[in-house]
Amino acid sequence: MTGTHRQVDGVSLKRIDTHRWWRDAVIYQVYVRSFLDSTGDGIGDLAGVRAGLPYLKKLGVDGIWLSPFYPSPQHDHGYDVADYCGVDPVFGDLDEFDRLMATARRLGIRVLLDIVPNHCSSEHPWFREALASPPGSPARARFHFADGRGPDGSEPPNNWHAMFGGPAWSRVTEADGRPGQWYLHMFTPEQPDWSWRNPEIPAEFERILRFWLDRGVDGFRIDVAAGLYKHPELPDSDDPEADARTRDSVNPLAWNQPEVHDVWRHWRAICEEYTARDGHDRLLVGEVSVPSAREHAKYVRPDELHQAFFFDLLSAPWEADAFRKVISEAMEDIAGTGSTVTWVLNNHDQVRTVTRYGEPTPQGSGLGAARARAAALLMLALPGAAYIYQGEELGLPEVVDLPDDVLTDPIFRRTGSRARIRDGCRVPLPWSGQASPFGFTSGAESAKPWLPQPEYFAMYTTDRALDDTRSFWHLYRDGLQLRSALPQLGEGTLHWLESEPGVLAFDRGDGLVCAVNFTTADIPAPVPGAPLLASGPCPAGVLPGSTAAWWLTDH
Ligand code: GLC
Repeated sequence: MTGTHRQVDGVSLKRIDTHRWWRDAVIYQVYVRSFLDSTGDGIGDLAGVRAGLPYLKKLGVDGIWLSPFYPSPQHDHGYDVADYCGVDPVFGDLDEFDRLMATARRLGIRVLLDIVPNHCSSEHPWFREALASPPGSPARARFHFADGRGPDGSEPPNNWHAMFGGPAWSRVTEADGRPGQWYLHMFTPEQPDWSWRNPEIPAEFERILRFWLDRGVDGFRIDVAAGLYKHPELPDSDDPEADARTRDSVNPLAWNQPEVHDVWRHWRAICEEYTARDGHDRLLVGEVSVPSAREHAKYVRPDELHQAFFFDLLSAPWEADAFRKVISEAMEDIAGTGSTVTWVLNNHDQVRTVTRYGEPTPQGSGLGAARARAAALLMLALPGAAYIYQGEELGLPEVVDLPDDVLTDPIFRRTGSRARIRDGCRVPLPWSGQASPFGFTSGAESAKPWLPQPEYFAMYTTDRALDDTRSFWHLYRDGLQLRSALPQLGEGTLHWLESEPGVLAFDRGDGLVCAVNFTTADIPAPVPGAPLLASGPCPAGVLPGSTAAWWLTDH
């Protein structure tokens, strides 16, 4: 096992273990099309990501996760992959990817790719071949094709709903021009589901994993990791309405089938093979939405995924009891699995914390911002790994007033314009200046970001954030520095301390205490003396409302 020592501002030393680096890593999620545009077409790209790496180095993250940049018709912004081993020209090319990897390597930033194994794009050559091939052909056996029900086959093969609205089946037109078979898509019709019971599919994904591992990537974020296998008979669901009620509810016939664990064992073995060569761990982190903590824990058994996002923190309301329950369950869930909890407060599918925790005003609310800062400090004090979604470090609010005609999320389209869920957190980042494009595109002043940036983004530019020591950015940066300096803030455990109602306090060992005041009233601080770091003004002896703080005590 290899390791190095580093010193941050003279606080203390911590051993950085390259073999188990992921266990308490902080990974920054780059939503490529909204990060930084180097070509002036209004869409972020890989050269933009490379240009932004020094900024992320300064912030202090351990790695980045890149949202899908593969060739894709972009019906679901790249989660509809037409070629798993390429780069869409909108984002660059493989040479640009290699340059990005080289810069990341030089800066010591690890790189995770987003891999999408549950479904591909309807433009994938294998799906096009399936459409051009007859029913029962080997080309169709790579997907779920089935005859329809009813005398003329005009009813879908079963009653499943798609996650993004509407039925989970679409009917194709056969070569003779007649309506023909149906194919399964758990998301949009442009995202046909692979048939993982066909051995060609696991073999193809092994090839894809090795392609990118050979190019030097440090691991993968796995999209819809509880998906892949369906019940072999594709029977009707007892309660299809329930399956479709929320994005997180799961159809037990289409998700979380026992066979999926064999896939993760195999992928883990592939990663271990690479680790055996150079002693450097590759990371598999799964997007796992399953009904219980116990099911979740199965995905991170020692020979399966290294980590799986623990989304319950993200969905918890801003209440001390709710947060405490989620954190305690996560710690229990993970015990004995060999993994560490993977905390997340924001991502590209969810309303941003500043807005979620406050009043949904167009410019965010002061209360929402104070709570989001406190939540960040809480997350960074928890044992395990943390994921930061781009813009979170700027305190960006959700853009809640995008006009209907600019919305691109397929969920909006497929729910009859009822669900405005995901565009508002994907608005391109503001970097500098007073007006859109706020330095996001390097093109002409007139260049238009793919989603319009509101005027008030002028208050959130990275330039401004770096200059203002009270900004979100400085809070995240200081938190990350202390995390890498203080061994107490690595993996391990936490002990709850007694606290007043509405307050959480815990000890991370060796005198490191974190407390969060979920109420809006000041309370006496649980620890005397000035805090090491606080999410807002925090005089000694007081923990103000909607504030979190860390203290280092003499214990
Ligand atoms: C995951 C992604 C989401 C995508 C969906 C389908 O939930 O996070 O953005 O739309 O999978 O691939």
